[in-house]
Amino acid sequence: MTQQIDEAAMRRAIEAKRDGAELGADTWEGIVAGYLRGTIDDAQMSAMLMVSLWRGLSIDETAALTKAMVESGERIEFPAEQIVVDKHSSGGVSDIVSLVVVPLAAACGARVAKLSGRALGHTGGTIDKLDAIPGLRTALSIEEFIAQVERIGCAIAAQSERLVPADKRLYRLRDRTGTVPSIGLITASILSKKIAGGARAFVFDVKCGPAAFMHRREEAEELARELVAVAGRFDRRARALVTDMSEPLGRSVGTGIEVIEARNFLRGELRDMRVREAALRVAGELLALAGIAHPSESAAHALDSGAAYEKLVAMVEAQGSTRAALEGMALPERSVEALATLDGYVNSIDAVEQGNLARAWSTSESTGGIIVGARIGDRVSRGDVLARGFGSRANAEALQRTFTIASEKPDPRPLVYSCHPERSAEGA
Ligand code: URA
Repeated sequence: MTQQIDEAAMRRAIEAKRDGAELGADTWEGIVAGYLRGTIDDAQMSAMLMVSLWRGLSIDETAALTKAMVESGERIEFPAEQIVVDKHSSGGVSDIVSLVVVPLAAACGARVAKLSGRALGHTGGTIDKLDAIPGLRTALSIEEFIAQVERIGCAIAAQSERLVPADKRLYRLRDRTGTVPSIGLITASILSKKIAGGARAFVFDVKCGPAAFMHRREEAEELARELVAVAGRFDRRARALVTDMSEPLGRSVGTGIEVIEARNFLRGELRDMRVREAALRVAGELLALAGIAHPSESAAHALDSGAAYEKLVAMVEAQGSTRAALEGMALPERSVEALATLDGYVNSIDAVEQGNLARAWSTSESTGGIIVGARIGDRVSRGDVLARGFGSRANAEALQRTFTIASEKPDPRPLVYSCHPERSAEGA
């Protein structure tokens, strides 16, 4: 039975955590239940969140909090014989990997069930992007979601209100109290939603750099390790990649404009090399977890044969839209150009600002946003086009200010910094 935590018990728990104690699983369960029931108020919960951020949560505590959060709502159950997989990005700019990889992995025979969120801050949300496809529905019922994965092999749906209601309440409070950047709280937030979503194995893409939630490499590595370790406690297999987010991943920044890039990428019309590397790597890990033979070759073949594009069309149609609607998506007519003001090398790109600009420019036209021409390290001459802004609100000067040019070529950075292997499940 859930331990009842009243105001006095919560005060004792906050004091114990403040003084360095580890709280037990029953206590975490009682805290989450009490907060949802209203016997614990925002003041006490805020104190617990802050002390958890400062003291840190042990793996046992994070697993206990995750379990309590999963149990706060409904869970999706896929048939036991299916190895359903899911991928999750910790949030980036021009991150079209989900739009590419979900149909790509499904085209190779995996079953991919992806629950996604909306944009957080400057980072794009896959659901906002899909909403730009005319007629497409992301509000699928649990039954529709399961049936679609069974029938065509993939679905991307909006996180239902009925799954992990505790996360919504806690995230809002964390946002108001400066307690979002805690490895333990982030792990519990992400994993509780993934576990309730029903998949048996996950690939996490932990972004690292100025435009990611994790700015520092050590923090990103720690989050990656923790996601894999805590997933193991729930008998879920997981791999976590730490990838670079110091510039937009792809060539487009916005919502509908990123769908156009993903569509063109899958059709083989425009293949940015960084997107290709990221997509094939994530797809390869997903396919390996799903038990598909020759994951890398299989993913490359599905991409190059057009099978992955046809799977995207099947998913779009299954979710209420049409091939014609997807293929009819076009850039706004009005565009502006951001030009290089001197000769040199692109030294930095402010992807946070580009994310904010693209968000503003895509409010009136869903395909408004940015197409980035120059990447960090590219040699440019005065007058070269660095990027184009699309939409009635696009502003060349604001876009130009997101680039800095220097005389020295910056050191190259890898796209994938590390990959954390799955650990053996230690029991839930
Ligand atoms: N994304 C989530 O879903 N939760 C967090 O706490 C941070 C990023």
